[in-house]
Amino acid sequence: MTERRIPVMVPMLGEEEAQAAADAVRSGWVAQGPRVAEFERRFAETVGAGQGVAVSSCTTALHLALLVLNIGPGDEVIVPSFSFIATANAVRYVGATPVFADVELSTGNLTVETIDAVRTSRTRAVIAVHQGGVPFDVRALRSAARDWDLALVEDAACAAGSTAYGQPVGAGALLAAWSFHPRKIVTTGEGGMLTLDDPEWTVRLRRLREHGMNVSAADRHASAQPVLEAYLETGWNFRMTDIQAAVGLVQLGRLPGLYAQRRAIAARYQELLADLPGLTTVRDPAYGETNYQSFWVLLDPEFGPTRDEVLAELATAGVSARRGIMASHLEPAYTDMVVPSLPVTERLTRDSLILPVHHALTENDQDHVVGVLRKLAGR
Ligand SMILES: Cc1ncc(COP(=O)(O)O)c(C=O)c1O
Repeated sequence: MTERRIPVMVPMLGEEEAQAAADAVRSGWVAQGPRVAEFERRFAETVGAGQGVAVSSCTTALHLALLVLNIGPGDEVIVPSFSFIATANAVRYVGATPVFADVELSTGNLTVETIDAVRTSRTRAVIAVHQGGVPFDVRALRSAARDWDLALVEDAACAAGSTAYGQPVGAGALLAAWSFHPRKIVTTGEGGMLTLDDPEWTVRLRRLREHGMNVSAADRHASAQPVLEAYLETGWNFRMTDIQAAVGLVQLGRLPGLYAQRRAIAARYQELLADLPGLTTVRDPAYGETNYQSFWVLLDPEFGPTRDEVLAELATAGVSARRGIMASHLEPAYTDMVVPSLPVTERLTRDSLILPVHHALTENDQDHVVGVLRKLAGR
């Protein structure tokens, strides 16, 4: 009998992606070119934004977002500690200071109140995360940011397909940053995107991702006449390749199906775990829908075993679950900062775990995961 192994996430990559990547290779155009342009257009359309700027990762997208806002030394940027560490790191890349705010228990997201609690006269921007795909309250946060004259950058790394107030996350965002890492619902291997509506910022972002050049390498190459480019400011090489974009275009076509499937799996977990005392599952907020990029459950003492004991038991049963989302302020990279206590963040990161959700998860697999949890709860 083969040993059962249930991974926490498996990217949905098929023959179509392999073919699209091969076509890009055969075309001879493998760096940033026409497929990247098409992927930008189609992705922006999907998330309800006017413009897309494809980059090498969500981390570089966040970095560029802060650059285009001219944020730098002396500025403070409010971020949730309850996020992958790249959210806070991006602030340090531009020489500004990240200031950690707490999150609410039900969504794992910043709120107007938690932002207000750490706002100072030096605050220039907020990076709010749609954590694990759960949308934050875009109406409340966008309106507060306007009132306070702060730029609101949306870290939508996990949120492709999620909605808020009946619109895709991304629609109406000043700047939204996306990830196409293989743990995400849409993948290009590595990759990211900024979406926005401002055409002038788009021009500058395209320049910043490509060494500060005023003509893209693709346009220069395509021109019959010699084009003399100029380097208008110090930029980076944050480009996506056409091979990645070719894969991304196929993945975009899969998004509605993957979204529906993830939500069906999550609903089944919610049903099968509903009666376990001391265990709550992540859910849609009242104003939107999550893509369940991360399906987390939160334990309290009534459950019995601790989170780490549950993780160990699941691992023994062949289930690759994960600890909950990290608290950046507890990592060695940030211990030089004086951070007030963030009780909700600390509770979530200590007591939650992420269960497997992916297209290849069968009902039988899911029953196995649920069976381990029910046994641990004595049910
Ligand atoms: C909330 C959040 N922001 C940023 C990132 C970084 O994304 P990337 O790996 O594309 O740089 C991640 C990755 O997991 C994330 O979850």
